[in-house]
Order: sequence, then structure tokens, then C-alpha cells
Amino acid sequence: MRKINWGLIGGGEGSQIGPAHRLAAGLDGAFDLVAGALDHRAEAGRAYAVRLGIARGYGDWREMLEGERGRQGGVQLVTVATPNATHFEITKAFLQAGIHVLCEKPMTMSVAEAEEIVALSRETGAICAVNYGYTGYALVRHMRAMVARGDLGRVRLVVAEFAHGHHAGGDDAENPRVRWRYDPAQAGVSAQFADCGIHALHMASFVIGQEVKRLAADCVSCVEGRVLEDDAQVNLRFDGGAVGRLWTSSVALGRQHGLTLQVFGEKGGLAWAQEQPNQLMWMPLGGRKTVIERGEGGLSPEADRASRVTVGHAEGMPLAFGNIYADLAEAIRARAEGRVMDPAADLYPKAVDGLRSMAAIAAVAESGGVWVDARPPSLR
Ligand code: NAI
Repeated sequence: MRKINWGLIGGGEGSQIGPAHRLAAGLDGAFDLVAGALDHRAEAGRAYAVRLGIARGYGDWREMLEGERGRQGGVQLVTVATPNATHFEITKAFLQAGIHVLCEKPMTMSVAEAEEIVALSRETGAICAVNYGYTGYALVRHMRAMVARGDLGRVRLVVAEFAHGHHAGGDDAENPRVRWRYDPAQAGVSAQFADCGIHALHMASFVIGQEVKRLAADCVSCVEGRVLEDDAQVNLRFDGGAVGRLWTSSVALGRQHGLTLQVFGEKGGLAWAQEQPNQLMWMPLGGRKTVIERGEGGLSPEADRASRVTVGHAEGMPLAFGNIYADLAEAIRARAEGRVMDPAADLYPKAVDGLRSMAAIAAVAESGGVWVDARPPSLR
């Protein structure tokens, strides 16, 4: 099978998320990294591309678009792994050229921009995916399958957390990688919820198969001088009747990554943590608590498809991201071949999920403790 030509924008040397994308896209041999505009400094980006063996290294994403658009063997999918404020214009430009995009989260800086991306993806037929990559974990997909097939009965309650302590030092002024996150000009209306809380909300929706309808948020800046929140507690109501509780923080010292999800239904409860992603806790009503291991027999087809190594060998974050790429490879090939894609692969987060997230971010910023509509205007 022919490889899909892939391009990377951002993810330069020393970046946080670039290496995870390169590992993830490389896992199954479906993609060939043929082009990149890797760094905001043109020469550094070109030089890094040479060191990575990328055939066409560009100094700038616009130059890359011109070089790749309509080219024989040009990129078919680009990943946008640049800072948030650049996502919209880069994603828009590549979609307009008919090139599929996997955009890092948040997809845009506003709900209006996100609506535009959803419409553009529909008009052009180019796929726009958003990297809520943690939903690629095999056991997260198994949780979703268990909920969908009714193992838990009606879901009553979902409790999601994404709380870490990496910004507790309050060294924003000296630390450029922290500073922009709390600066409204660069981060938008929300810091910690937009950066991390949104992963927890997306995962909760993905697993329970319900979308958030209303929310009430209590946002605070624990570190003096921060304009945007570094901690938020958000109450949620989903369209299928579930109640949600979400805590996100960047001052929770002692917590590392801190993404966890618990789902409580009428017939059982599930608990999963990103830092131990190969085990899922299952507590059936009236039964005994058991540990479901990734890779063991009898799991759902969705979990089996998302597993790469045998039981007992730990899989981690780049492999979860790899499942988003595997889904995209199937989606891109199915379109090219004019066939219906494998439904088990149709689990990657889409532009509409990016749009729902932007609406939730706006609602969290607006709430001030009061219940507000969390849906985008076009989906009310
Ligand atoms: P970073 O600051 O570590 O790296 C950003 C990279 O983009 C740098 O190499 C920089 O030179 C390059 N860059 C900046 N502007 C550019 C431009 N105009 N053209 C080409 N390259 C450019 O940032 P980090 O932490 O890697 O985050 C990047 C994006 O990924 C952010 O939107 C962030 O929210 C997202 N992210 C997502 C995660 C996830 O779990 N899905 C985890 C971490 C980050």
C-alpha cells in the first residue's frame, strides 16, 4: 500500500509536542514525512529538517503551502503543531488548498473561527482533525465501547480531572514557555481550562457519548499577577442527562500529568488514569472491583484495534497519538479509493469537536459561577 505524504508545521527542535507527532505518524508505516516548516526561525527550521532527513524543509508555512500545493507527490496531510494563535490561519490555508489537516488543540482562538473551519472542511472535502490524542488510548476506547454496549447502564455521573503542578512556581515573567499561557493576547480568554481542562472534557464526551449542554465554572488565579485562571472547577450537564464534575489546575504541586476519568453508571463504575494507561478499573454493581489490562483477551474490537504490543508491555502517549494517525490513514485512503471507511477507525476527533471545545472554553470564561449554554451557536 502506498504511503501517505505527510508534512509537519511547528514541532521544531526542543519543542514539546513535535517528537510525539513524529513517533506517532511513524508507528504503522502509513506516512512518509516528506515536508516540514518546523520552526518560527526559518534557518533553524530548515537545518532541523535536514538533520531529520526530511526531503523538503521550508523556512515558513506559506512557502511550504506554495511548494506543496498541486505538486506531484506533495503533502496529503499536514500536522499543525505551532503555538495556539497561529492554528486558525494555517489550518484554513491548507484546507483551502484541499490538503487534510491534523491541528493541535485548541483548533482556533474563537468560536467564530472554529465555525469557519468546520464549514470550510465541509465545503472543500478536506479532513480537519484535532489532536485530542489521549482518546487514542486503547482502554479509553474500551471505556467508550463498554458505555455504548450498556455495561454501565445509564451514565449518572462523570468525573474528569486534568490537574498538574508545573506552573505552581509562578515564574511566568522569566519563563517564556509559561508566560504566553496566561497572557490573554496570546492565550485568548482562558489559560488552564483551554490548555488542559478541555482534554478532560473532550474525553468525558467521547467516552459517555454525550455532549456538554450547560456549564457553571469557578475560575481562579492562585498565583498573584496572573490575569487568566490557573485553576478551575466546572460543573457540567450533558445532553444525554449525565452530570459532570471537572477539575483542572496548574498549581497542584505533586501532580504530574494528572488526566483522569471516572464514569459512574447505574450498573457499574469505571476509573482510568493517563499515568497508568494500561489498566482500567471496573466495579460492577454488587460485584468485585477488577482490573482490565490493555492487550488481554475479550476486549472490545475498538480496544484491540488500538493495541500494538502484547499484554504486560506498557504502551504510552505516542502510541495513543499513533491511533489518531491510524484512523486518519484509513479516512484518507477510504476517500481516495471512494469507499466507506472502517467504522472502527472513525474515532478520531474532528473539527466539530474542536468547535464544541471552543464554545466550552468561551462558556467557562463567561460563566463567573453562573450556569451558561456551553454549545456553539450552530449546534444549539
Ligand atoms: P513549543 O513552544 O514547545 O513548540 C512550538 C514549535 O513551533 C517550536 O518549534 C516553534 O519554533 C514552532 N513554531 C512557532 N511558530 C511557528 C510558525 N509560524 N511556523 C512554523 N513553526 C513555528 O510548543 P508545544 O508545547 O510543542 O505546543 C505546540 C502546540 O501543541 C500548542 O498549540 C499546544 O497547545 C499543543 N499541545 C498539545 C498537546 C496535546 O496533548 N495534544 C500537548 C502539548 C502541546
